[in-house]
Amino acid sequence: MSSLMWYSLFVTLSATQTVSANESSTLDMKVSSCNITGLWRNELGSTLRVKAEGSEVRGVYQTAVESTRGAAGSHRTARIIGIVGNGTQPSVSFSVLWEKGSCSAWVGQCFILRDGAQMLKTFWMLHSVADNLAGDWGSTRMGEDRFFKT
Ligand SMILES: *[C@@H]1O[C@H](CO)[C@@H](O)[C@H](O)[C@H]1NC(C)=O
Ligand SMILES: *[C@@H]1O[C@H](CO)[C@@H](O)[C@H](O)[C@H]1NC(C)=O
Ligand SMILES: *[C@@H]1O[C@H](CO)[C@@H](O)[C@H](O)[C@H]1NC(C)=O
Repeated sequence: MSSLMWYSLFVTLSATQTVSANESSTLDMKVSSCNITGLWRNELGSTLRVKAEGSEVRGVYQTAVESTRGAAGSHRTARIIGIVGNGTQPSVSFSVLWEKGSCSAWVGQCFILRDGAQMLKTFWMLHSVADNLAGDWGSTRMGEDRFFKT
């Protein structure tokens, strides 16, 4: 081989290495699997600080909203008990018991978005304590929450 050929081979190899190094660093930055452990925030500013151990999820929920003033307690926080599935985009479920006796439950799934961000897409139900069965008809609310990992 001529020295020119050796030189072009060297250049080709170096270029290849540069590209693959960049590719791998991009991949490292992108999340490939949901990590439930950490801090999550929804569109209203409520936060979910949780730790997953196996399929169990524990933590603290701080709500930005409440059905009636004081319903969520003075600090608007409550303990979370939940579960999480296997896999890269697992299903999740968690519940909260509020200070004044109402309870909420969320079910949904963690998704990895195109930009690598993690989102918990959930539906929730909130049950406020009714004085009696006759008062139960209007005591359950439902909605949708999207939490993003912060
Ligand atoms: C790869 O990264 C290096 C160093 O950050 C940069 O100089 C180079 O332009 C990048 N190449 C491509 C193809 O992005
Ligand atoms: C998940 O995130 C937490 C908090 O950022 C971190 O301590 C933990 O190492 C992560 N777990 C995995 C498997 O990446
Ligand atoms: C989750 O993974 C564990 C360990 O691989 C396995 O024992 C368990 O059956 C899996 N659970 C579900 C719901 O797939």
